[in-house]
Amino acid sequence: MCGIIGFTGYLNSADVLLQGLSELEYRGYDSAGIACFTENGVELIKEVGKVAALKAKVPSDFHSTCGIGHTRWATHGGVSEVNAHPHKFGKVTLIHNGIIENYHELEKELALTGRYPVSQTDTEIAAMLLDSLYEGDAHETIKKAVERLEGAYAFLIMFEDQPEVIYSIRKGSPLVACQSEQGSVIASDMVALLRFSKDYFVLPEYQIAKLTKTSITVTDLDGELVAPEILSVTWDTTAAQKNGFKHYMKKEIFEQPEAILRTISPRIHKNLCADGHEQLLPDFSADEIDDSVFTGVNRIIVTACGTAMHAGLMGKVLFERLLRIPVTVDIASEFRYQNPILDENTLVITVSQSGETADTLAALRLARTAGARTLSIVNVKGSSIARESDYVFYTHAGPEIAVASTKAYTAQLSAFYMIAFRFALVREKITKEECSEYMHLLLDTIPAIEEVLKQTENIKKISKRLVDSENLFFIGRGMDSALACEGSIKLKEITYIHSEAYAAGELKHGTLSLITEKVPVIALATQSDVLSKMVSNMKEVRARGAMVICVTTEDATIESNIYDEKIVIPTTADIFAPFAAAVVLQLIAYYTSVARGLDVDQPRNLAKSVTVE
Ligand code: F6R
Repeated sequence: MCGIIGFTGYLNSADVLLQGLSELEYRGYDSAGIACFTENGVELIKEVGKVAALKAKVPSDFHSTCGIGHTRWATHGGVSEVNAHPHKFGKVTLIHNGIIENYHELEKELALTGRYPVSQTDTEIAAMLLDSLYEGDAHETIKKAVERLEGAYAFLIMFEDQPEVIYSIRKGSPLVACQSEQGSVIASDMVALLRFSKDYFVLPEYQIAKLTKTSITVTDLDGELVAPEILSVTWDTTAAQKNGFKHYMKKEIFEQPEAILRTISPRIHKNLCADGHEQLLPDFSADEIDDSVFTGVNRIIVTACGTAMHAGLMGKVLFERLLRIPVTVDIASEFRYQNPILDENTLVITVSQSGETADTLAALRLARTAGARTLSIVNVKGSSIARESDYVFYTHAGPEIAVASTKAYTAQLSAFYMIAFRFALVREKITKEECSEYMHLLLDTIPAIEEVLKQTENIKKISKRLVDSENLFFIGRGMDSALACEGSIKLKEITYIHSEAYAAGELKHGTLSLITEKVPVIALATQSDVLSKMVSNMKEVRARGAMVICVTTEDATIESNIYDEKIVIPTTADIFAPFAAAVVLQLIAYYTSVARGLDVDQPRNLAKSVTVE
């Protein structure tokens, strides 16, 4: 949600910023802008639209070695050049990711000093506030400003009379920084630092970073020096590039076998039995997730947003089946305002690819304050949710750039499965033998996904039948009902086709009235225990004229006259079917979006990493 980058060093800063902004563009793409120190002072260039439009506006002879850049996802104030960042007021130029909640009140106060904004943004008010406080001491000014600011923010700030220096502070919104021979860089996400270094640090909240060409110093608000922990990127630097794929989304769909393997394999303990055979057991000792986390728990709450929440819906079915412990799944933005019932025997699992989603982070903080145990499933190392949880299970999906989440979702599923197996083993709900059998089946989901990836041409052809649809339903039962939610969000976010996910048995209680020959139905029929019921539901929608695309397993027997198209995944035990079936749904969404000529990776109005409420 808004991408920000700052650079001061020995390269042309406009080039560095524009390249960084295109890497951060997935975070927002309503408008973009840069502000750089030049021989004429601080110069701003802004443009509505994508980074490419901004790039076209930057003169080829523009020279600067220090600047800040922003790609915006509009919150306060419409999409316009005047609302685009950076904002300059008096001696202060800044960019911001987050929301200043008390900007109205501050605006009224600042009007009394004769300061009026030209934009409709909360960010310009922050620039005005800093300008009103600035008397030459940047540290003191920032300290006083944050005492007044409410909300979430990551700021990069330049003061007109301090050339070549960038200051930064954050609360809530992410910032990572690194130092290299070419200069100092700070950005919302590691992907924009990779060209400079694999080593970086997360700027701690409420601490001020000062970037000069040769150093980055971090101090707390009292001016004491701080030494943030240095982290290293473990994935290959090419992982954040398209590597020959037309879209990041397709590349990330195809990366799922590796992403799942990377998530599972470091956590397999090979147990040699007396009879010489080897058992595969989940082992979280390297994650420092002690078995004591699982003992005494009598309730589990999963809280997350969007696709991550859908992974939680699958986790619920799995946990309840294996553990017989009640599980609720709450949307994080609702959970945090519901006064939830929590105690020390409640395990709260938060799930987040980015580890920065504002609502999920707030839900986690609430759970901790109430004394619940907290475990997070997170993809981005060192992110806020990871740092603030009692325990972290990192998915190793690698960087996910497409706004529509794919590999992070199946990696989250594999995390849930491993946690469920370990939990069940510790609670003696399953034997080591059974656990090992489950682990083998979990690993078998990888070749099953590879089988689906071989069917892309067929799925592409079938997806063409959806191109002109305006409404669509995903239906399923049990785990397929949870998967329907994920299939539906994926399709609607990148194709703009309105779709609904429905428990198949519930349709006849009202929604069947919407089914006509113009409303295709994607029927998920991978669960053998409810197959006959699902078949009846497919007949019901077909009888109302719907074109039915059925996703089922090789062994399932379904009469060919009740569907129009069939996509088959390898047969496995029911609980493992969602992996391959999820990939089918991702490919349907992908190819339908491509066929509709849309921007697959950056769908309208959306952004990845939602750091505002
Ligand atoms: C949908 C999608 C979103 C995210 C949601 C949570 O494809 O990507 O629904 O899943 O915004 O994001 P994270 O996982 O970063 O907390």
